[in-house]
Amino acid sequence: MTTTNPNPDTVDYTSLIGRENINDLEAILSITNSDVHATSYSVGAKVDTTFTWDYEQSREPLVKLYEKAKTSQWNASTDLDWSTDVDIEKVVLANMAQNRPDGAVAFGGVDLSGTQFAKWGDKEWTRFAIESNNWTMSQFMHGEQGALVCTARIVETVPWIDAKYYASTQVVDEARHVEVFSRYLNEKLDGHYPINAHLRLLLDDILMDSRWDMTYLGMQIMVEGLALAAFGFMHQMTTEPLLKKMLRYVMSDEARHVAFGVLSLKEYYQELDAHEIRDRQEFAFEAAVRMRDRFMQQEVFERMEVNVKEAMQLVLLDENRVVFQSMLFSKIVPNCKKLGLLDAGDGWLRKKFTELGVIQFEDWADTGEEYLELDEVAKDRAEA
Ligand SMILES: [Fe+2]
Ligand SMILES: [Fe+2]
Repeated sequence: MTTTNPNPDTVDYTSLIGRENINDLEAILSITNSDVHATSYSVGAKVDTTFTWDYEQSREPLVKLYEKAKTSQWNASTDLDWSTDVDIEKVVLANMAQNRPDGAVAFGGVDLSGTQFAKWGDKEWTRFAIESNNWTMSQFMHGEQGALVCTARIVETVPWIDAKYYASTQVVDEARHVEVFSRYLNEKLDGHYPINAHLRLLLDDILMDSRWDMTYLGMQIMVEGLALAAFGFMHQMTTEPLLKKMLRYVMSDEARHVAFGVLSLKEYYQELDAHEIRDRQEFAFEAAVRMRDRFMQQEVFERMEVNVKEAMQLVLLDENRVVFQSMLFSKIVPNCKKLGLLDAGDGWLRKKFTELGVIQFEDWADTGEEYLELDEVAKDRAEA
């Protein structure tokens, strides 16, 4: 990932994502978390800690963002009602009634006769929905910790004082996000999942890269862009009031974080040459594929003790999944466009996003300014 391809026109999929066919199930399933009982994990990385002696706050958009971040802090202990009773079985049934009038819990539009799922009754489907929810919330929690360490890294490595100031507020935000997902999993749900191997590989890729802007591209643009869309989706789908409010508040913060990435990289990319930009395009694409792979939820099928490979073949056919996965890119693609990454060079990233089936989002709102509209914390305070 960190190496530069000497001949950009001959880049092949295998060198980027380790497989020729993007839907190669054997390759996707071969990446597993083999150390699920470990309680810590270290990434060896060598980065330059950078001081700046220029204390002038000269980047107006970042100054404005920093001021906003200071006034939109919230307290997970007191701004959320943790006494809310969550009966997860009732919640998943209510969610299904609201969102899936067709009655399908998974594999929308797929004929399941003759498969291992044909004999599943309500009991198994309900358990699957609960496990799927546990898995999703666990991955959100792990991803939030990734954001926490990446943002601390940015404080250290970014050369601009305005960015160091802003990033320090994001460190606090991300700690709060890890806190709320962890508390929700502990107090309201039953059953954590370890980090998904594709997500961990992505965090490794981001953290192993010593270039300060790559932390931003991987975390602020790709991971947080996807998280913002995924939280929005879950916020719409859930009928559980504590989770709904929690997601509204987390999303208010995330919109600022993505804006931080867009505003900073837009300036920095203007200094880079074509070769360096190509590196960023490839990094964005590789991150996109890793994120897509992780949403296949292979660990949930393992826990349900079914044949995982057959399950994954059906996952690939699920009509709802295609829509859901492409929606996850609804923030990433316009932000990459705003940064000039889509069309730089020969438009390599545009071609790749077209192949992934997500190019249709290119003209959706980018997140450079959207954070002001998404500030639900300020709206609640104005109403109080
Ligand atoms: Fe976060
Ligand atoms: Fe964030």
